[in-house]
Amino acid sequence: MKQHEVVEKNVGLLALFMILAVSIGGLTQIVPLFFQDAVNVPVQGMQPRTALELEGRDIYIREGCVGCHSQMIRPFRAETERYGHYSVAGESVWDHPFLWGSKRTGPDLARVGGRYSDDWQRAHLYNPRNLVPESKMPAYPWLVENKLDGKYTAKKLEALRVLGVPYTDEDIAGAQEAVAGKTEMDAIVAYLQSLGTSITNKR
Ligand code: HEC
Repeated sequence: MKQHEVVEKNVGLLALFMILAVSIGGLTQIVPLFFQDAVNVPVQGMQPRTALELEGRDIYIREGCVGCHSQMIRPFRAETERYGHYSVAGESVWDHPFLWGSKRTGPDLARVGGRYSDDWQRAHLYNPRNLVPESKMPAYPWLVENKLDGKYTAKKLEALRVLGVPYTDEDIAGAQEAVAGKTEMDAIVAYLQSLGTSITNKR
């Protein structure tokens, strides 16, 4: 009883013990994740994103799509019936940063790849209301005008390689050429069409 009183009356000591308690709790949850194959090993047959898909992903980030769309299908029946197979960790191991999101003003996009044609995606991004009259999604008409020069594409691939994405030297050497002259619309549609296809193999 007396010892407990000492801790309670000494703010520094109390803080120290609190940090210790929280750290142990946190570490026992976090550290094992670094060593579990289920969350570190890519799903079988997964390919790194192409240079164009990667540029599309950066446009997706720039335009704030993640603010309205999650990319994380939870393992519940209501979700899998609507969106397809639930998301597994191995699909995201090469994503830096993750775009799982948590806000669903629009539908989840984790498996949107192949759900619509390229033409549908283009027309929808140009002005969603042309296809879905009641849509609240903003229009992104500038994507068809903005062209990519690919100046930094190789550098992006290199940076991801440092983080463990298995890009080859050829991928990096050909990155600029693969995207130069393409529009931002080409890139973001390529990205959307790739989403979630490693498991469903719709690609
Ligand atoms: C303000 C919220 C909002 C933002 C920002 C937004 N969306 Fe949407 N999105 C929606 C809503 C709502 C729908 C459902 C209606 C529709 O299809 O237009 C939707 C539908 C979609 C669909 C069709 C999904 C399906 O399964 O039917 C795609 C693909 C999509 N959005 C991609 C994007 C991309 C890419 C961006 C960023 C460039 C983006 N959205 C930004 C709200 C948003």
